[in-house]
Amino acid sequence: MSTSHQPAAPAHAGPDPLNIATESGGDPGESAAPARKRKRKRRGDRDDGTPKVGPTGRPVREIPEPPPLERHGPARVMAMCNQKGGVGKTTSTINLGAALAEYGRRVLLVDFDPQGALSVGLGIQPHELDQTVYNVIMERSVDIVDVVRSTSVANVDLLPSNIDLSAAEVQLVAEVGREHTLLRVLRPVMDHYDYVLVDCQPSLGLLTVNALTAADGVIIPLECEFFSLRGVALLIDTIEKVRERLNPKLDITGILATMFDPRTLHSKEVMARVVEAFGETVFDTVINRTVRFPETTVAGEPITRWAPKSAGAVAYRTLAREVIRR
Ligand SMILES: Nc1ncnc2c1ncn2[C@@H]1O[C@H](COP(=O)(O)OP(=O)(O)O)[C@@H](O)[C@H]1O
Ligand SMILES: [Mg+2]
Repeated sequence: MSTSHQPAAPAHAGPDPLNIATESGGDPGESAAPARKRKRKRRGDRDDGTPKVGPTGRPVREIPEPPPLERHGPARVMAMCNQKGGVGKTTSTINLGAALAEYGRRVLLVDFDPQGALSVGLGIQPHELDQTVYNVIMERSVDIVDVVRSTSVANVDLLPSNIDLSAAEVQLVAEVGREHTLLRVLRPVMDHYDYVLVDCQPSLGLLTVNALTAADGVIIPLECEFFSLRGVALLIDTIEKVRERLNPKLDITGILATMFDPRTLHSKEVMARVVEAFGETVFDTVINRTVRFPETTVAGEPITRWAPKSAGAVAYRTLAREVIRR
């Protein structure tokens, strides 16, 4: 019944130092003038002195710039994962990667989707590639170092992909240690990088399980649309199974709300439900819907270079700071 409210009420009125300070106007030892001043200040607190609230409904928390690294590696592997397509996995992989690199981190982006959108987004034509991640995971004679390529962004390398990778899902089934294939091929370069971001394909098949097995953390981009919430339970279930059976260190680093439209009630309602369901797992950083992202795909560059001062670029830098801190 209402008994649960009772402990809360005195807790607010009592030990809260702010309340004690502001409610002390009746203190006989004080003149009326300071009391009025305090009152005005209190009103000011509410209007503009209260902490600014971000799109998640939580107070905005400033994250300081990460300190420069003294040495590099071993890499933290992050799987960018959601079995729904078009939620911002690839966009987030490119732009988070580029933003981490701006903070002096060495980044390897792994295109683990046969669509090759990550490769295209970095200005590479997938059908022109001789060797891709497919050859690295399926052919023992192919060295990852020979297939990784630098990009136009300093400190960002790419392990590209193309349609060949679609065969891997079937071929891997017959392999010994099939779920650990990506982990095994990444090992030789782990010490060179600080972050490896794996852009997963929109499925929970064997390739995605490989990414989760190789990963320290999962970032789940989630479109701020009602139906986007539907598949998340299944995704989290898969992550938990991989943690139990294949990779005990696997953790959900964060849920990233994407395609947020601050003008619509719908976006805000979805956001509120996501925060209600996942709490602190949701990043403070929220990516707004903007046409600048499709533009960057055409340009073959991350937004941090295409439009370095845009809100989108700023948002991915903030995300990078959150990821470094988590
Ligand atoms: N915040 C955003 N606002 C508007 N369009 C976006 C945003 N993020 C991604 N897009 C666009 O939406 C499409 C799908 O994004 P993408 O990152 O490829 O998703 P996924 O990899 O999950 O399929 C792309 O055309 C991309 O340019
Ligand atoms: Mg994609």
